[in-house]
Amino acid sequence: MELDFSQNYSTNKEEERWIKHYSSSQKILLVGEGDFSFAACLATAFGSALNMVATSLDSQESLMMKYPTASDNLKQLQDLGCTILHEIDGTTMSLHPRLGFQLFDRIVFNFPHAGFTLSEHSSIQIMLHQDVVKGFLSSASGMLTDNGEVHVTHKTAHPFNLWEIDKLAEEVGLCLVEEAWFSRYDYPGYVNKRGDGHRSNDTFPVGACTTFKFAKP
Ligand SMILES: C[S@@+](CC[C@H](N)C(=O)[O-])C[C@H]1O[C@@H](n2cnc3c(N)ncnc32)[C@H](O)[C@@H]1O
Repeated sequence: MELDFSQNYSTNKEEERWIKHYSSSQKILLVGEGDFSFAACLATAFGSALNMVATSLDSQESLMMKYPTASDNLKQLQDLGCTILHEIDGTTMSLHPRLGFQLFDRIVFNFPHAGFTLSEHSSIQIMLHQDVVKGFLSSASGMLTDNGEVHVTHKTAHPFNLWEIDKLAEEVGLCLVEEAWFSRYDYPGYVNKRGDGHRSNDTFPVGACTTFKFAKP
């Protein structure tokens, strides 16, 4: 389904529904979804997903193999009118024919991660993660409305702090608006997934963790 961005998704202000940082009147792009439980959580809170585009790097076939819960979440999202796209690389998404000409109020990537090739302490592994995050931030920066924000939720304890996400954002011309403490319990039904390897479907403890909010200066 194509989105018509000329309309306001909450035509009546009183009907606007919020969950944490997100509102039913925002045009929201979700990137790098795991089992689509974050997208399903937002859609359930809004009562509609006409304002949302939810994407995964995984193909639909791969999702079905990795996540037993993906099928129900995708069905729920479809029923609520969500636009669902698979095989979307967040580092090149601004060039994608279905996304390239669209602007969003919020572009969200929870727990970006390049996969479990080396130890999380390895400088090479950290560079691989940084490539994903920086590529995503760069691509997202060209897809924002005037007051739009890019959100990255990320662990802040060592060695994850070595990714220096705020510096990566600065390098692509985005500035830090806020670092908001993250709790999974703010998002009922959301289960963060490892997303790679033979334990893709496992969740992981988030520990100290924030949602970094970036915007154009
Ligand atoms: C740790 S998992 C988190 C999954 C999901 N966001 C969540 O919170 O449950 C990392 C995710 O990043 C995705 N990913 C890695 N590189 C990506 C890229 N270049 N573009 C989009 N997604 C990517 C993987 O497919 C995987 O789903």
